[in-house]
Amino acid sequence: MRVEKGNVTLEIVQGDITKQPDMEAIVNAANAELMPGGGVAGAIHRAAGPELAEACRPLAPIRPGQAVITPGFRLPNRYVIHVLGPVYGRDVPSDRLLADAYRNALKVADAHKVRSVAFPAISTGVFGYPMEEAAQVALKTVLEEASRLQHVRHVRFVLFDERARDIHEKVLAHLEPT
Ligand code: APR
Repeated sequence: MRVEKGNVTLEIVQGDITKQPDMEAIVNAANAELMPGGGVAGAIHRAAGPELAEACRPLAPIRPGQAVITPGFRLPNRYVIHVLGPVYGRDVPSDRLLADAYRNALKVADAHKVRSVAFPAISTGVFGYPMEEAAQVALKTVLEEASRLQHVRHVRFVLFDERARDIHEKVLAHLEPT
């Protein structure tokens, strides 16, 4: 599914965030220490190689909602943008911190003149954010930010399973009726 919002194409697909070779940057659902971990972070560090953890070390720790950028190393993407999402119900207000994570990732991308960015569903794994609530915040934030972006022209949500993809499509159809 894809919608046009101003100059930006917003797309929802099912897939693996480490296998998006046409995207200039991918977003990592990181931990505060920016270390490999499991889930998205584990997959990204495995695909990027050990240089990624080395590049991350001087940038850590980060706070919930914050975003930092590194090269993509062995990934097919030029950059990785690392964000720390909120632990649902512990880092509060969780909705504001999740929105900050998406907004700051887009700001960092735009500051680096990145044209395309792929996001996973930040905080919806280990951090426990319910998928539909997270999708509302994520898609609303990206739609709001779209008009402010100078360089980013393509935003892709890469959802790991069919259920997550269906939820995001439903939420987007509600936010942007055609
Ligand atoms: N591509 C796309 N999405 C993925 C992938 C992948 N390769 N692997 C997992 N996912 C999905 C999960 O199904 C989940 O919906 O990404 C979403 C986010 O899951 P997590 O990676 O657990 O991220 P988060 O909830 O933000 O928790 C971050 O997890 O791995 C640790 O070190 C990390 O402490 C940090 C925490």
